[in-house]
Formats: sequence, structure tokens, C-alpha cells
Amino acid sequence: MPLNPDGMPLCVRSAAENDLSALLRLDAEAFPTEPYPFYVLRQLFDLCGDRFLVLDDGHILYGYVLATPPDAGLSLILSLGVTRNLRGNGLGRRLMVAILNRLRSEDVHEVRLTVDPDNGPAVSLYQDLKFVQRGEVQKDYFGPGEHRIHMTCDLTT
Ligand SMILES: CC(C)(COP(=O)(O)OP(=O)(O)OC[C@H]1O[C@@H](n2cnc3c(N)ncnc32)[C@H](O)[C@@H]1OP(=O)(O)O)[C@@H](O)C(=O)NCCC(=O)NCCS
Repeated sequence: MPLNPDGMPLCVRSAAENDLSALLRLDAEAFPTEPYPFYVLRQLFDLCGDRFLVLDDGHILYGYVLATPPDAGLSLILSLGVTRNLRGNGLGRRLMVAILNRLRSEDVHEVRLTVDPDNGPAVSLYQDLKFVQRGEVQKDYFGPGEHRIHMTCDLTT
């Protein structure tokens, strides 16, 4: 089981409303150039419900992942982030496995996400979890210079 820097176990659980200020900081650390504003995070929390997961040790949040409610068996993973000093310890994988299991339990058959082609760690993680690229890299998908790979994972196999 992954541990925090003091050796305490980390658990995956659904995000709660009183996590939002810690999530704002965590998201800003994971995505320093384009963090979610609080009002966006707040609405994502309302939208995603139990598909907004966090990793914590009972005091501090170390990572989060969120996915949309299924629509005709399709769900989108909107974000994944792990605190900088604990990266490379399997926490991102643990969050992804947890969200995929949750979506599977809701009969989701396909999960999609987008990723920066230059984000090697994330692309490797998604490929490891059986995500495959859909189509060509979409140039300027999130605005000028913000290219994205679209990836999909078949949860029925
Ligand atoms: C992407 C991110 C969530 C990965 O989290 P993490 O906890 O460091 O990842 P893990 O330790 O679980 O690693 C899982 C797999 O990811 C890949 N990976 C992780 N770090 C890597 C690195 N530095 N280089 C290459 N591959 C890497 C590997 O496939 C790894 O599997 P392995 O441990 O069997 O080799 C984390 O780097 C992060 O928060 N980045 C900033 C935010 C971000 O880019 N989010 C994704 C947006 S699409």
C-alpha cells in the first residue's frame, strides 16, 4: 500500500465538499500554467459526484482524478494530478485503476481522455492501462500551441 512521507497509508476515497480548497492547491501544483479556477472546480465537483476521487492520508491530499457521469456508456476523464514530491510512486496508477473500476461498476464501456503529446509520464501511464490513441494529434485543441492526443480505453474487454 502506498505511504505518505511519514509512512502513513494513503487511501482513495470520493472527494468531499470540504476538500475543495486543498484540491484547488493540488490542481495548481499539477497544472501550474492553467489551474482550474475555484468556480470551475466547484462545478466539476457537483457534476462528477462519486467519480471525483482523492488520495489522502486522513490529513493531506496527495492526488486526485475526475471523470464525467456516463453518457450512453461513455465517460471522459477530465483531470489527473499527483503532488510533485510523491510522483513516480504508483499513486497516479492507483487513482486511474480506482476510477476505471468505479466506471466499470457503472457499466461504462468506453473511457476517453486527452493528453499533451509532450507529457511522457502521463502518456506512458495511459498506454500501460490499455488506452490507445484515437486519430491524429489535434493541433491547438486547447488553444494556440496546446496540442492534444485523444485516447480511448475499452472497458468491455
Ligand atoms: C501524470 C502523473 C499523474 C503520473 O502520476 P505518478 O504518480 O507519478 O505515476 P505512477 O508513479 O503511478 O506511474 C505510473 C506509470 O506512469 C508512467 N510514468 C510515471 N512517471 C514517469 C516518468 N517520469 N517517465 C516515464 N513514465 C512515467 C510509467 O508508465 C509508470 O509505470 P511504472 O511505474 O510501471 O514504470 C503525474 O506525473 C502528474 O501529476 N503530472 C502532472 C499533471 C499531469 O500531467 N496530469 C496528467 C494530465 S493528462
